[in-house]
Amino acid sequence: MDEACPVGRKTKGPSSSRSWDAVANWYIGWAGAEGSRHHRELAIPAAMRLLALGPGERLLDIGCGAGALAPSVIAAGAHYCGIDKSRRLIAHGRRHHGNEVPLLVGDAARLASSSSLRREGFDAASFLLSLQDIDPLEAALASARWALRPGGRLVILMTHPCFRIPRQSGWGWDEARGLRYRRMDRYLTPLDIPMQEYGRKGSRGRGTTRSYHRPLQSYVSALADAGFVIDALNEIPAPLPPGETRALRLSSEEFPLFLAIRALKHR
Ligand SMILES: C[S@@+](CC[C@H](N)C(=O)[O-])C[C@H]1O[C@@H](n2cnc3c(N)ncnc32)[C@H](O)[C@@H]1O
Repeated sequence: MDEACPVGRKTKGPSSSRSWDAVANWYIGWAGAEGSRHHRELAIPAAMRLLALGPGERLLDIGCGAGALAPSVIAAGAHYCGIDKSRRLIAHGRRHHGNEVPLLVGDAARLASSSSLRREGFDAASFLLSLQDIDPLEAALASARWALRPGGRLVILMTHPCFRIPRQSGWGWDEARGLRYRRMDRYLTPLDIPMQEYGRKGSRGRGTTRSYHRPLQSYVSALADAGFVIDALNEIPAPLPPGETRALRLSSEEFPLFLAIRALKHR
């Protein structure tokens, strides 16, 4: 996912993100309905800290996949509702979490067209590892704004756009200095990047998705244009276990894997 190879084209204008149906079986096999190790150890705890949900509050999880965030939200005493474009991931989630966890099929860029959602019906909304796979960004943020009550909070947890660009970033090794460095081949240009194919060769469950790289300024500007004010930002590394060499651990601790942003709906 993270190799340096010059693939990906400039984002040209509004498009629409691909369904993850073709890779649903692979994704569930990799992450499970409760999330991968990175979900459980880093992404979900970081998102939950910023969401700071109180008992009885309502959260809309946008691009929810199979609902990996649901158990933590319910454990906090809040109400969870997830929405995702992939019917297959939603079906996996329903089987795993049961009927009491509402999981809807719908497009993040057109939440107002979902008959099950109501305008300003949520205290908080999240994009857990989904916003970088959703296009167009502006429509997704406008939709999140539509779903949130005034003052409601939006938490975005994504792979860090400054350090992790699919096919355009990777690790390198500096022999002379004995250190591992992070190499970035592109950054400022928004890119529409085809991901590698997942699933068993020849199987029906094999397919690809797209990821949308945007520089940090695109996210900050789009949030401001959509009527949000950022009030917290965290950069989250993925530390390696103590057995690894100092050079590997240092680089893992210095270059964050995830970026988490909290923004409040105003106006
Ligand atoms: C990397 S997965 C993350 C899923 C889940 N949040 C998790 O952490 O396991 C990205 C998700 O974004 C969803 N997605 C992409 N475009 C979407 C859209 N336009 N509307 C709703 N969901 C979308 C995909 O179906 C996929 O489930």
